[in-house]
Amino acid sequence: MKKPSVLVSGGAGYIGSHTAVELIAAGYDVVIVDNLSNSDIAAVEGVRRITGAEIPFVEVDCCDRTALRRVFETYDFDSVIHFAASKAVGESVQKPLEYYTNNLTSFMNIIALMREFGRHNIVFSSSCTVYGEPDKQPVTEQTPRKPATSPYGNTKQMCEDILRDSIAAYEGLKGIALRYFNPIGAHPSAQIGELPRGVPQNLVPYITQTAAGVRECLSVFGDDYPTADGSCIRDYIDVTDLARAHVAAIGRMAGDKNKERYEIFNVGTGRGVSVLELVTRFEQVNGVKVNHKIAPRREGDIIAIWADPTLANEELGWQATRTLDETLASAWAWEKHLRDME
Ligand code: UFG
Repeated sequence: MKKPSVLVSGGAGYIGSHTAVELIAAGYDVVIVDNLSNSDIAAVEGVRRITGAEIPFVEVDCCDRTALRRVFETYDFDSVIHFAASKAVGESVQKPLEYYTNNLTSFMNIIALMREFGRHNIVFSSSCTVYGEPDKQPVTEQTPRKPATSPYGNTKQMCEDILRDSIAAYEGLKGIALRYFNPIGAHPSAQIGELPRGVPQNLVPYITQTAAGVRECLSVFGDDYPTADGSCIRDYIDVTDLARAHVAAIGRMAGDKNKERYEIFNVGTGRGVSVLELVTRFEQVNGVKVNHKIAPRREGDIIAIWADPTLANEELGWQATRTLDETLASAWAWEKHLRDME
């Protein structure tokens, strides 16, 4: 019998590659497309090594509808998970047109081709950034969205709306938007993980590179916030746990459990951890030192946000399983793997 098959756009990226692994483990075939603009073919090779699966990879930019159409003509997938997007908050402020063009065009091309080819189910990578600075913690899916504070965040809100309106208009189309909290860590095999280009913008890659001696000192952006230790609070979710949420979403759309054709789920642990706590935990778990200093606040940072993941727990049958310690150990194992490769 033919296995169900999923097109993974951006499958050479950080979350996409981990999701490809979990899809294959759950019995799906996977086709990966990626333009490799901010990712590496090595991630696809890592997925092939971990799974032993033949995974078709097509280097294509989802903004190129003609090229993407050929992928739809060639491969007989049932569902799509759309990761392909530009994702740096700061860069999006400098290059708004690039961000709007890339993130919106690629998403609309995917939806248009799904209609053209009668492929019905899509999972969209959204972000907790849509909540802005929430008035109440933890945030549920009912927590109001706040006006976006960056073009990047705005593309996430706009794509959610495009998906909602398309599903309302086009019969047969179903979608799930997953609002990710802060994904960290790497696959336990240390074959795939995050591959930041240049100086990391995100906390955990900066921590691991500092511990490895690649960076001299981590700047902790602000210790005068109204939180217990003065640093910002986030909900750090293991990337393999996050990957499994996509498998659950794909399964839900293929089944008949969901009555709504468009659904939104928070994907987080439900636990808020401060920057300083994370640094200390990383040092303790891995027995390494992370030089750090307190630096001024980073513009645009949210003070605190963590998820109420109840809806995903109950409806998707998904929950975060890995402990923060396991995840921080996996992040360090991956960093050491990268250093060994040099
Ligand atoms: N931080 C530091 N020093 C650093 C890097 C980060 O102190 O060198 C702090 C930040 O100030 C923040 C926390 O670590 O308090 C987490 O920062 P990240 O940059 O890792 O993550 P963000 O929460 O800012 O952003 C992430 C994703 C975005 C997404 C956003 C949603 O990178 O794509 O979550 O809130 F939009």
